[in-house]
Formats: sequence, structure tokens, C-alpha cells
Amino acid sequence: MRKVLKVIKGESFEIPPVWLMRQAGRYLPEYRETRKQAGGFLDLCYNPELAIEVTLQPIRRFGFDASILFSDILVIPHALGRKVAFLEGEGPSLEPIEISDIDKLDLDGMLDHLAPVLKTVTGLRRELPEETTLIGFCGAPWTVATYMIAGKGTSDQAPARLFALSEPEAFSKLMDKLVEASSRYLIEQFRAGADCVQIFDSWAGILGGDQFRKWSIEPVRRIVENVRREIPDAPIIGFPKGAGMQYFGYREETGINVLGLDWSVPLTQAAELQKNGAVQGLLDPLRMIAGGSALDDGVDEILEKLGKGPLIFNLGHGITPQTPIAHVEQLLQRIRGS
Ligand code: CP3
Repeated sequence: MRKVLKVIKGESFEIPPVWLMRQAGRYLPEYRETRKQAGGFLDLCYNPELAIEVTLQPIRRFGFDASILFSDILVIPHALGRKVAFLEGEGPSLEPIEISDIDKLDLDGMLDHLAPVLKTVTGLRRELPEETTLIGFCGAPWTVATYMIAGKGTSDQAPARLFALSEPEAFSKLMDKLVEASSRYLIEQFRAGADCVQIFDSWAGILGGDQFRKWSIEPVRRIVENVRREIPDAPIIGFPKGAGMQYFGYREETGINVLGLDWSVPLTQAAELQKNGAVQGLLDPLRMIAGGSALDDGVDEILEKLGKGPLIFNLGHGITPQTPIAHVEQLLQRIRGS
């Protein structure tokens, strides 16, 4: 069995498996080259040949233990009929959704639209080294909704928070559609060859109390339930970024197997959470830019506090475009000792 999957089942290793969120991306010159060739970012996501190529690039260069499908969480609103664009250097831009648009979201056409992404998954499983785990993914409904409502990333996604508070019925309908779409999409990723999937709730941390329960935990719980109905025992990583104290109980309440932790989680707290199952994270991505002892010390501390339990080494969020390649090599050397 592949190492990452063994850790998901609770095994621990002297040298933990490692991969990096956003490992296919702009810090790699070969990615920048292929992206240029593809035209736009979405063209790259929907071109199986080039998407397979950029997914494999970091595996060839660094031999990570897992490979994450190259795509984006915003292909779901796109597949549901919303306008989505990625402007160079500005991030995503969507047409902000109105209440009257929610009923028009088209679940029936969705899987046809996503067929090229599923083809990428199948091609990847064929081309990846046998020992490399293939991770599929989707955005959690809350995080996807924040972009659909604001039309872009904002510092605190206030438009979506306000929408959820002032139009709870309409918001609930939107979330139901996203739960259904995400469930079907993940099931198809498993059928196409994914070994496990990660649900990115990158904006979970801005929700407090009852809102966290309603809009972060509950939709993810429903997705996990839907997926497992079709794919029993499907291994699922949950990443409610910034959840703080609300990380406690998240695994149990949603049914995910692995808890993705961001860099703000104290390592003693991470060790508590690890008692109930595997954890993934936690290195501050900025340590990857700093390099030197900032990087080595960050790695050592995580290995010391969490290395004896089930751990998938990763960053606490995506690797940034400014990261020098030499620092990725330094990270691997520090973890693997070779
Ligand atoms: O190696 C991988 O992880 C590849 C796949 C991947 C991408 N996006 C490619 C991408 C994954 C798993 C994502 C997830 C994603 N997308 C999330 C959740 C994780 C997170 O980072 O919080 C979110 C919130 C998005 C939405 C999104 N996509 C934003 C906000 C941006 C702009 C920010 C940025 O880094 O430019 C993107 C663009 C994006 N998605 C890029 C990549 C490689 C950069 C686009 C480019 O090449 O121009």
C-alpha cells in the first residue's frame, strides 16, 4: 500500500511521507513554461495532456510521496454555469451570484463540463510512479461560496458572511447545490483513479460558533457521507484552514480521516489532535522563503513533536511563487536525511 494511504490508516514512519500544497505552480520554471503554452489558467485545467504534465513536474523534480491533481476549486462554479476568469497576477474573478441565480445552477451539465479533469485523473494514475499517492480534491462549499458571492478573494470574505447571515434560506439553497455538486465530483474522481481526496476549506477560519458548525462542518459531513455511500472507506483529508479551537471535534463530526492543520496551530495542540488520527501540515510557508535555520528549525520542531505518530508532512498552506527551488530541496533533505 502507498505510504500516504498507510499513514491515513494510522501507521507512523521514521521518515514521514511528504507533499506540498500547490506543489505544481509558479515557483517552478517548467510550470510557468507550460502555463504559457496552455494560454489561460483555466485552459490549463481543462487540457488533460498539459494538466498531467504540470502535475508530474514536481514529482519528477522532487519525488514527493503524493501528487495532487492539477485543477482549481473554482472549476465547480464554472461547471455549474457561472462566469469564472483568472486574471494574471490578480487571482480569480467571478460574476457575483445573486439570489435569483441560485435556482439556475446546472447540476446536470456539470460532469460533462468536468470530463477533461476526470480524464487527467485517469491519465495521472497511469503515469505516476506506483508508490505515489494520487490526491484528488474539491473546495468545501463554504470556501467556494465565498468566491461565488464576492466574485473574488477579499481579506475577510465579508460579502459571503453577510449573505449567510441576512439571507439564510437562499444561502442554504446555494450550499445544498454545492454539497451535491462536490459529492458527485469527488465520487467521479475516485472512480477515475484518485487514491484519496482533500476538501479545502481555506476560509473556514473566518466563521465563528454556530456559523462554523452550519457552514463549515455540516456541508463537509454531508459530502463525506455521500461519497462513502458510493466509495466505502474512501480516504478523505479535511483542511479547515484557520479553524483554531474549532479543529477539536472537526474530524469526528465530519467523518474525514486526516486533519489538515495550518501553521498557526500550536504543536502541543497538534499532538493532541494526532491522538485521534493522522494529521497533515503544519510548516509556515514563509519558512520556505526564508530558508536557512528558519526552515530547518521549523522542520525539526514538527518532526520532534509529531514524528512518532501518523503524520503527512506538508506546509500549513500553499507554497508561494517566491520560494527558491533550493529551499524545497533543503526541506526534503531535512525530512529524509538524504
Ligand atoms: O499543486 C497544486 O496544489 C495544484 C492544484 C491547485 C490549484 N489551486 C492550482 C492553482 C489546488 C489544490 C488549488 C486549490 C485552490 N484554489 C484553493 C484552496 C487552497 C488554498 O490555496 O487556499 C483556493 C482558495 C483556490 C482559488 C484560487 N486559485 C485562488 C485564490 C487563486 C489565486 C491565488 C494565486 O495563488 O494566484 C488561484 C489560482 C491558482 N490555482 C494558481 C494555481 C497553480 C495560480 C494561477 C496561475 O498559474 O496563474
